[in-house]
Amino acid sequence: MRRIEESPATPEVIELRQQLLDFVAVTDSRAPLYARLAVGIAEADEVLTILAAAPQTKRLPVTLFAAIHDVLLANPDEPLADWYPNLSSSRRSDDPVPALLELCSRRRAELIELVRTRTPQTNEIGRSSLLLVGLSLLAAEVGPLAHLDVGASAGLNLLVDRFRYDYDGHHVGAGQIELRCGIRGESRPELLPSALPVITSRLGLDLNPVEASDPEQVRWLEACVWPDQPDRFERLRLALAEAAKHKARLLAGDAIDDLEAAVAELGPGHPVVTTSWVLNYLGEEGQRRFMKAMDALGRHRELSLVCYEAPNLTPGLDWPTEVAETDLSVLRLFSWRDGRRTDEVIAKGHPHGYWLTWLR
Ligand SMILES: C[S@@+](CC[C@H](N)C(=O)[O-])C[C@H]1O[C@@H](n2cnc3c(N)ncnc32)[C@H](O)[C@@H]1O
Repeated sequence: MRRIEESPATPEVIELRQQLLDFVAVTDSRAPLYARLAVGIAEADEVLTILAAAPQTKRLPVTLFAAIHDVLLANPDEPLADWYPNLSSSRRSDDPVPALLELCSRRRAELIELVRTRTPQTNEIGRSSLLLVGLSLLAAEVGPLAHLDVGASAGLNLLVDRFRYDYDGHHVGAGQIELRCGIRGESRPELLPSALPVITSRLGLDLNPVEASDPEQVRWLEACVWPDQPDRFERLRLALAEAAKHKARLLAGDAIDDLEAAVAELGPGHPVVTTSWVLNYLGEEGQRRFMKAMDALGRHRELSLVCYEAPNLTPGLDWPTEVAETDLSVLRLFSWRDGRRTDEVIAKGHPHGYWLTWLR
């Protein structure tokens, strides 16, 4: 493996090296393994040039980390797996960088193919803890729900009524997968779900839906979870197995252009659209077009929207000033009744749903 001091680096490699060092600065405390690996990568031109093969928009440290993780998930006997908290029960704590460099050298072609062809992809079921709050408040008003999750990824949040929830000791549901969500600030038990809502039909819409029964697609989704968060990794695996058993229909399509057709596909029940960490991908103008598309649908029918989005990344949703600048995620319920739109902000919380604070 050639080290940086042995050959002059191209501007591209210099830029990637800086990205890796910036990554270390922001992830050092919450992702110690990736921070250590990133330091090693920043000093190794031959690893940086693997990432340079990715298309410009995907040339990010997380793309390379996901590719390496994907190789380890496919080949659990690889020596580097011994340092991964989610892959090794007796994980090593000495320097992982020599094993990393050796793997990247030996599997260079495979890694280049992965960074060239794959897009980082996530599906975080912890957000169901927040979505459930919105869906339950809604179900108390309208009864059974027909659920369309826009930006559904593998459709895991369509399993929202199949998980078991623990909101700081308030328990709901009896599923095998437990989601814990702490309550910070006032407890407001009356806002917590007393029972799971009845969901009579469910559908996902995503530009790139992940097929939960396709081993390669599943492995890539798992590879995009950081190994320093073994709890997330484990519950993702369990949820993917659940999704493979209880298949929800996923449509490949665009959040705005295909919204009307997707809503039309819903079965009986009050139509409710959910979004979590997808509207940020649309840009401000796209966010306004999405809301216009919802307004057009809500003009002639009862309709609701439960969003769990980051206001600072979704200005097109015209957030109330008290939350507009927050970098937390905010749960908001929009209702269209008799052609009129109303909305309320319910809670803010951790982007992965580990806790919430009431705003209602
Ligand atoms: C960060 S993931 C969030 C997935 C899921 N909502 C969750 O909370 O785990 C964003 C998802 O939005 C999808 N997406 C991005 N732009 C989209 C668009 N214009 N229309 C539909 N889906 C889109 C991506 O393919 C990806 O699955």
